[in-house]
Formats: sequence, structure tokens, C-alpha cells
Amino acid sequence: MTDLKCASGGADGAPSDPRHVAIVMDGNGRWAARRSAPRLYGHNAGMNAMTEIVRHASDSGVGYLTVYAFSTENWKRGSDEVSGIFGLLVKFVELKLRELVENNVVVSVIGDYEPIPGEAKAALERTIEDTSRNTGMKFIIALNYGSRADILNAAKTLAREAAEAAGEGANAAASEITEADFAAKLSTAGVPDPDLIIRTSGEKRLSNFLLWEAAYSELVFTDVLWPDFTPAEFDRCVEEYRSRDRRYGGRT
Ligand code: IPE
Ligand code: IPE
Ligand code: MG
Repeated sequence: MTDLKCASGGADGAPSDPRHVAIVMDGNGRWAARRSAPRLYGHNAGMNAMTEIVRHASDSGVGYLTVYAFSTENWKRGSDEVSGIFGLLVKFVELKLRELVENNVVVSVIGDYEPIPGEAKAALERTIEDTSRNTGMKFIIALNYGSRADILNAAKTLAREAAEAAGEGANAAASEITEADFAAKLSTAGVPDPDLIIRTSGEKRLSNFLLWEAAYSELVFTDVLWPDFTPAEFDRCVEEYRSRDRRYGGRT
């Protein structure tokens, strides 16, 4: 049977607590617009909301929290907004590093963070290093992340390996590739698929987030704009998740 990495409960039916929660943190711009404030004001408020949710998810026993912080498409925004977002990220990791370490959180990044400004990259690398010996919740920041790019990258790696391994028999090697082999080449390798994906701000789409991994995730959409997203709203989303019937293609 295909390994769907269904973490919570493992069996079909009513889920227990989600082991992996992923969040599309959307609505910072609209939150700022409602206050006639610059977009960056919204992103700053969004970082504060993120801090609260990291703490709350960790306290609640969530194993993995993945947040969509910047997509491969977000470069389309003006350079002032883009550099402002990265500046805020530096501020977040520097101000919160001690708390993350104390809360035993392990920070990692998915996505190609090579092109992000040097200062932001250095701050992130420090945080990853300083939290690497922790043993608690894995906090995964999707940064310059795009799921199609990730899937394409996995396909290229497997194609290269198949060609190298089998020479003339490359087709045979390719036909033996399994879903598990493919998943092992994604940036989320080793991380269970998200049980619950939350998107704030009323938009109902994935916007290139975890397309492979979301195969059997439960999706919860809330109209709350990200800066207004509270631990109580997080709990409400988890409650909605608990009411779902996860069938993985089986019978009711
Ligand atoms: C999400 O908020 C943060 C990022 C995409 C970086 P937005 O900036 O997309 O907010 P809206 O959707 O314009 O309100
Ligand atoms: C998705 O939000 C990306 C992040 C939250 C980082 P967007 O605001 O970029 O998505 P679209 O453009 O509404 O689909
Ligand atoms: Mg948006």
C-alpha cells in the first residue's frame, strides 16, 4: 500500500490531534489597508501573530509546524515590500531566538533561500544552528518556497540518478521509482505529510504550497486575517479538523 505518511492515528476515521499543522499566513496587506497603513505594518503584525502561534503550537504538543512565509511568486511584489519582509524576518529570528531555544523548538527552512539578502540568510542560519540540538517541535519556515519548483527538482534528481545508475537501462531504473523515493527528494523529506492545512484571510487555494504533501491533508479556511489570528482561532481550526472523517479513499 502506498505510504501516505498519515500521521495522526494512522487509521481512517476521526482524527486525533494533528501531528503536523501547516499554515498559509495570508492577509497581512488587507489588514494594513483596513488601517490605512503601509503593507509592511501588516507584515510586522503578521510576525507577531506568528510568534504567538509558534509558542502555542509548541505548548499544545504539535510535532511539526510549517508556515508559508514567502513564495517563489512573491518576488513579483515591489522590491521595497520584499526587502521589508526579509528585514522583519531577521528581526523575528533575532528577537525570538532565545525563546525558541528555551521552548526546545527546532527551526529549519524549506525553499531556496540562497537568493535572499545576506543579512537575513545569516540570521536564519544562526537560528537553525542554535536550535539544532533541541528536541521539541519542528518549526519549518517555507521561504522562497514553491511546490512546483520542489517537485521539479525532485524529478530532475531522480532522472539523473536513474541515468547514472543504469546507463543503457535507464528506463528500467526509472520504472522502479516509488512514491517514497520521490518524497525522499522533496525538501520536506523526513517530515510527515501535514494533517491540517490552515489558510487565513478567506482565500481558498493552496498558492503553490505543499502540493504533493497535501494529498490527504484536511483543509481549514478561516476569514480571519493573519495578523488577527490568535491561539484561540488556532484551537478552533484544530477543533474543525477533529470533526473531519479522514477516509484516505476508503469507505465511510
Ligand atoms: C501574506 O499576506 C504574507 C505574504 C504573502 C508574504 P499578504 O501580503 O499576501 O496579504 P494580502 O493577501 O495582500 O492581504
Ligand atoms: C501565499 O499568499 C503565500 C504566502 C502566504 C507566503 P499570496 O498572497 O502570495 O497568495 P495569492 O497570490 O493570493 O494566491
Ligand atoms: Mg495574500
